[in-house]
Amino acid sequence: FDTKTPPYSTSDTSSFAYISARDRWPVIITQGIDDVHRETMTATDPEVVNEGKQIIAELTKLKYELQHDRPMTLIPDDGYADIKEYNQELEALGNPKWFGVPWLFAECYLYRRISSFFYLSQKWKSYDLFARQKMSTFKSSRPAVLELAGRYKDIVTELESKHTLKGAKTKEELEAAEKILFIEMCEICLWGNATDLSLLTNLSYEDIQKLQGTEARKASEKNIVVNDLNAAFSVLYEGQRAGKTERRVDIILDNAGFELFVDLILAGYLISSGLATEVVLHPKRIPWFVSDVVPKDFADLINALADPQAFYSTPSEDDKHTGKSPQPLSDIEVGNLSFLFRHWSTFHAEGQLLIRPNGFWTEGGSYWRLPTSNPALFEDLQDSELVVFKGDLNYRKLTGDAMWSPTTPFSEAIGPLGPGSGLRILALRTCKADVIVGLPIGEDERLRATDGGGGDSGARKWAWSGKWAVVQFSDQKT
Ligand code: F6P
Ligand code: MG
Repeated sequence: FDTKTPPYSTSDTSSFAYISARDRWPVIITQGIDDVHRETMTATDPEVVNEGKQIIAELTKLKYELQHDRPMTLIPDDGYADIKEYNQELEALGNPKWFGVPWLFAECYLYRRISSFFYLSQKWKSYDLFARQKMSTFKSSRPAVLELAGRYKDIVTELESKHTLKGAKTKEELEAAEKILFIEMCEICLWGNATDLSLLTNLSYEDIQKLQGTEARKASEKNIVVNDLNAAFSVLYEGQRAGKTERRVDIILDNAGFELFVDLILAGYLISSGLATEVVLHPKRIPWFVSDVVPKDFADLINALADPQAFYSTPSEDDKHTGKSPQPLSDIEVGNLSFLFRHWSTFHAEGQLLIRPNGFWTEGGSYWRLPTSNPALFEDLQDSELVVFKGDLNYRKLTGDAMWSPTTPFSEAIGPLGPGSGLRILALRTCKADVIVGLPIGEDERLRATDGGGGDSGARKWAWSGKWAVVQFSDQKT
């Protein structure tokens, strides 16, 4: 059930696949080694120390195999069913080496193999080697978090107290006002994806903060090369007006920290505005692509908001380097963050905001396999009014990470999740990989000709940096 269009491969030196495997994955593994080392150094239980050293040895071996283009080895059975599929896939690919394999599979294998080191231990089973990075980057996005918390409180208070918006009087005015807000919320949620940790290895905290403010977002609107938000709004709005009592929106999450924060802003807005009656969030089961959300990240974020003053007064990694101590929050800022905490906790407690992990999201194949690999999950998503896929990796998985012509319609490139699927899909993706579909004729060429876009090199460099984005919609519900 995979696409016949060939996938991007780590052997293709003009693609981001090759650069990722050669330059970025070794750095990511090294950061993981440093983290486990740090944890091991402070442990007192000798078994924790021993197993920590074993995990470091396994990570070091993995890095060596990758950097020396050795064969990708079978993953040892760690008790989870997906291992069998990973290993079958390796065999089907002819026991490949690291630099001659579909990019998507190789990258999933990397994170799945890392997770097996932890599962096979006794003391480190639930340890997340990326958790420290995720939380510290969230802390450094403080200015944007505070700005959005204030904005969220104002919007929700207005929605809940007056059941109207911005003085809108007629039905049309109300619809127009709601649409503007919906688009703003979705665009916040989209650009929240520009700050994932796997790409941020070279950015400073100032750079991160610049990516996140309101001004930056407005300026970035011209960088959304396809934007189907109007169509997505219409279906939710029509559903609401038709008075359907249960209207669920699903969000297939991407990154923790700031991106999860903005996903919750969108979720809270959808419920408060009545555009959805329920939002289901789908995190990953294992540490994944460095910064992806695992259930504990959700708890960590909520705990941070439960006592924001305590959270922000503990120095961040950045503060430790600069020797600065963090500014206390003002009473208004504490009030806004506490408002968010109460609002989201109430939705969660009342069953309107749900977290539902599933092992499918961390399998090695693309989402073309969903109907056959996990029919129960597929059917569950058919009940949703709208399934939002966040981020670059989810987009690669939707499209099979294949070398489509860039003008291929989005609904065609998502294969079994397109026509006949009964699914309504919205992808919110900042582009960080070669695959792209659904562009107007000539757009890829125009973007290649921009500064740093790749020009005549044969490389689609414009699509690698997270500077450009697409918002694409496929409605197969009718
Ligand atoms: O392209 C870089 C990369 O790490 C890809 O390997 C991966 O698809 C993506 O970024 C992760 O980004 P996101 O968190 O948006 O899925
Ligand atoms: Mg991610």
